[in-house]
This record gives sequence, C-alpha cells and structure tokens, in this order.
Amino acid sequence: METLKMLVNNNEANEQSYSQAIDLLNQGEVVAFPTETVYGLGAVATNDSAVKKIFEAKGRPSDNPLIVHIGTIEEVSNYIEEIPDNAKKLMDCFWPGPLTIIMKAKKGLLAPSVTAGLSTVGLRMPNHEVALRLLRKLQKPVAAPSANRSGKPSPTKAVHVEEDLQGRIPLILDGGATGIGIESTVLDVTVTPPVILRPGGVTKEMLEQVIGTVILPTKNQQILDSTPKAPGMKYTHYAPNAPVYLIEHNKKEIELAIRQLKKEGHKVALLAPSSYQDIKADYFFPYGNEGNKEQMSAKLYDDLRACDKTEATIILATTTTTEGVGAAIMNRLEKAAGNKWYKNRE
Ligand code: TXA
Ligand code: MG
Repeated sequence: METLKMLVNNNEANEQSYSQAIDLLNQGEVVAFPTETVYGLGAVATNDSAVKKIFEAKGRPSDNPLIVHIGTIEEVSNYIEEIPDNAKKLMDCFWPGPLTIIMKAKKGLLAPSVTAGLSTVGLRMPNHEVALRLLRKLQKPVAAPSANRSGKPSPTKAVHVEEDLQGRIPLILDGGATGIGIESTVLDVTVTPPVILRPGGVTKEMLEQVIGTVILPTKNQQILDSTPKAPGMKYTHYAPNAPVYLIEHNKKEIELAIRQLKKEGHKVALLAPSSYQDIKADYFFPYGNEGNKEQMSAKLYDDLRACDKTEATIILATTTTTEGVGAAIMNRLEKAAGNKWYKNRE
C-alpha cells in the first residue's frame, strides 16, 4: 500500500484533503490525523473491520481498548447510557481538550474491538482544528489510538507517523507538530472518587478545581493492581532502541556519569534542558528552557525518537518534578526507562 501524506490546515483550499480522508474513513479504511496531544490513527468507531485495521497497522494487542473521538459534546449521549454530573462539568470545562472520560457505554453501538470487551468507553473531543474539522464533516465517532507502532513513542509530527506506518496505512493528514506532545489525561468517572488512569495535559489539580477529589494512583499502587484498569498501561511504551536511564538534573552528576559510561565504551545520548548543551555527551537533545514543563512535554517524544537515529548505546534523560503536567511527563519518562535510574545501575 502506498501511504499518501497531505498537508492540511483549516483553509477551504484543503477541502480535497478532507474529502479524501472522509471517503477513506467511510470506506472502512484508517487515516492518521493530528490532535493537540499526538497524532492519532483513526477508523469509524462503529465499523469493526475498520477498527481491526488499526490494531493490525500498529501491531497493537487486541485487549487494549481505543479512545473514541467526537466533534461535539451533544454526541456523547449517543454512546453513553447515563452521563454522570461530574463528567458533564468536566466536558464543559475542558472540552475540546486533552481529557478522555471513561463512562459506561450503551450496549451494541460501538464496534466490539473498540472497547476490547469492557462495558465502558473513553470519549474525548480533541482541541485541534484539523481533528475537529474532520470529525464534524464526517459526523461519525472515530476510534483512534496514537499513530505509532505499538511500543514506540507516540508521534508528535507527521514524519513520525510516516517512519512507523509507511506502507501500512493509506493517508496521513499533516497538520504540523502537535502542541502538547503527550497523550490525553484518561479519567475513569465510573468510580467514586474518579481515578486518573493516565496522567496528561489536564492535571489532577485542574480536575479537582472542578469536581473535587480525584485519585492519581502512585507507581506502587499501579504495580500492585493486578488487573490494570487502563489495559494499555501494562505494556512497554515510548521505548527507543537503546536503554534509557533517568538521572537528576545536576550537571556535576551528569558529567561524572557520562565520563564513566564513555570509559565503558558507551556512546551516550543526553536528554536535558537546553542550557546543558555544554556537557560533553555524544549526542544532545534539548527539552527546551529549564523548568518549562510545556516545552519539555512538547519535545519529549521527538527527542526519544531522535535517539534512534544515532549510534547511542545508552540514553540519559533528566527528570522533572511531578507538579502539574510534570506528573504526566514523569509517567512517560518512567515508562520509557522501564523505571531504571542511573544511580541504581549495576
Ligand atoms: O491523546 C490521546 O489520548 C491520543 C490521541 C490520538 O487522542 N490517543 C491515545 O490513545 O493516546 P491510546 O490508544 O494510545 O491510549 C488510550 C489509553 C490506553 O492506555 C487504554 O488502555 C486506555 O486509554 N483506555 C481506553 N479505553 C479505556 C476504557 N474503556 N477503560 C480503561 N482504559 C481505557
Ligand atoms: Mg498510544
């Protein structure tokens, strides 16, 4: 299959690209498109054979449910039995935006592969002009996971999608780099208090201002839970080819670590704030200004992917605090590193 990449923005001039995407979706094909978080790989969520093509293209385990994207808040009642009050408040506050809300699904409407056998479904209205325009023209729900090969960092640029899925999907709508750079917050409101299954751009603090207490399980609680509620969180994620080790952002410590690793014959890639570029790593990928978490989240996956284009044999990634969107950044970094810290290296 040949993969077409078409540049789009919200202009009328792009009408043809949107029409092509909509035709493909209506024919039961998959299409990659940008959202404000990461690129998604979409299929019509009521068409089971179309949704199965997503799993095939990504190499995604079939027990991992997909998020359903919609273009208006009104559509929620098509798929949800009873919309809890706190969910309504959250939609009013944060939609369109990087918040996926897990609710009880009406039976028999969405394709079985979307929910992977669960009685719940995650809905989200993305805050991106291309995604919204596509959804509103299509007037159908779109199931879409991140448009990467399973296990790889999510794509934040159309070229990342191309690298992973070229020849496996017919069309990529190229809307430039996504803004937030890490996936949406996934919040389960079927339990009281609601539980954050995946931290993201809408933070615990922001949610609590609207609906009161929400739970963000600690890493240990997540590990203890033998049946993870967001099935996707148990798989390897965001992993470049070389092993990733986390390291505190302390210049002296990093310099020492790099000297030691080079002595062992390693080629070292360093992911750190821009001001650390004078440190003598073999490869350096800046997060942006020190302490700027928005820049760090926007850049993180691009940096992790860039490591795969180098000869690095080890990757050191500096960390951040877990305040605000830092909780989401650290969640992704810990997964990319498989929780390995340089200081605990054997
Ligand atoms: O920002 C995003 O959410 C992106 C863009 C494309 O919208 N999508 C995305 O989808 O990250 P995906 O499939 O890569 O991640 C969906 C996560 C998985 O961890 C999955 O297990 C969880 O949400 N999830 C989906 N439906 C669920 C459900 N009914 N109950 C619990 N977890 C669910
Ligand atoms: Mg994903």
